[in-house]
Amino acid sequence: IKKIAILTSGGDSPGMNSAVRAIVNTAFKKGLEPYLVYEGYLGLTNGNFKKAEKSDVKLIGSLGGTVIYSARFPEFKKVEVRKKAIEKLKEEGIDALVTIGGDGSYIGASKLTEMGIKTIGLPGTIDNDIASTDYTIGFHTALDTIVRSIDQIRETTESHNRATIVEVMGRFCGDLAIHAAIATGAQVLSTSERKLTEEEIIKESQKARKEGNRSIIIIVSEYLYDVNALAKKIEAETNIETRATILGYPQRGGRPTAEDRILAGRMGAFAVEKLIEGETGVAVNIVNNKLTTKDIMEVVSMNRPNKDELFKQYDLIK
Ligand code: F6P
Repeated sequence: IKKIAILTSGGDSPGMNSAVRAIVNTAFKKGLEPYLVYEGYLGLTNGNFKKAEKSDVKLIGSLGGTVIYSARFPEFKKVEVRKKAIEKLKEEGIDALVTIGGDGSYIGASKLTEMGIKTIGLPGTIDNDIASTDYTIGFHTALDTIVRSIDQIRETTESHNRATIVEVMGRFCGDLAIHAAIATGAQVLSTSERKLTEEEIIKESQKARKEGNRSIIIIVSEYLYDVNALAKKIEAETNIETRATILGYPQRGGRPTAEDRILAGRMGAFAVEKLIEGETGVAVNIVNNKLTTKDIMEVVSMNRPNKDELFKQYDLIK
């Protein structure tokens, strides 16, 4: 391979820029020509890319978001759209692509592999919902943001003798919620892996109050409840004054932690090495602190690891 393109796709995550920097710099060191694609698969399809310069990536490693932008582009599922993207790559003589994103982005990469483009994927999402890797790029930064926010919410909740429901992101993966619950000592936790009914949440809140908690923090994953309605219901049935906070986008932004920068950097450099060695249609993972690759389609169809141990520990700690 001679020319490689880099794109970020799906929800941005802190550390994506550190990965882009690592890929560009490694490519230059290995004698390749890196290209930056703007706005993910949308930009790839429209030919919105340019040859990277070292100066493009010099100071980006510490920035949140993605400086090459992202997009949700479901149209990429259509073969004729992908054909257009491949034409654009061929016009420029680009033979390989590094995709940084979540599982939707991985599916796009694997389809391109089937159509003759060499690809490699990096897990870039705050959700930590890619089964083959212990951690995704951005997860730890988002978790730190959530924990800092809940610490603040705790102070006001404690001051007012209340309960607060905190809704966190993660799509259908409870990793952000459960890790945040362990880190903050939340009294109640509900995720899609262990979903409580509204009645169970009410019962657990009452129990927490009986056990002497002035403040009751209830962490719930997104897409499970209407948290404002639930707060009203808890208040009506328990007499505990209850509020709801949806943490939202602050979880996705912000400067990446050292951990995410290092993970992204290591994965980025490793991805370029693997492409040069001839690997294609694979995703990069970190497993027990070792970098590995695995077939992208296998990764996408894997079941996420069982979280029983984490839930058990949460129950003991809270
Ligand atoms: O995948 C990252 C994520 O932030 C999820 O946690 C969330 O469900 C989703 O993206 C929201 O996406 P959008 O910003 O496109 O609405």
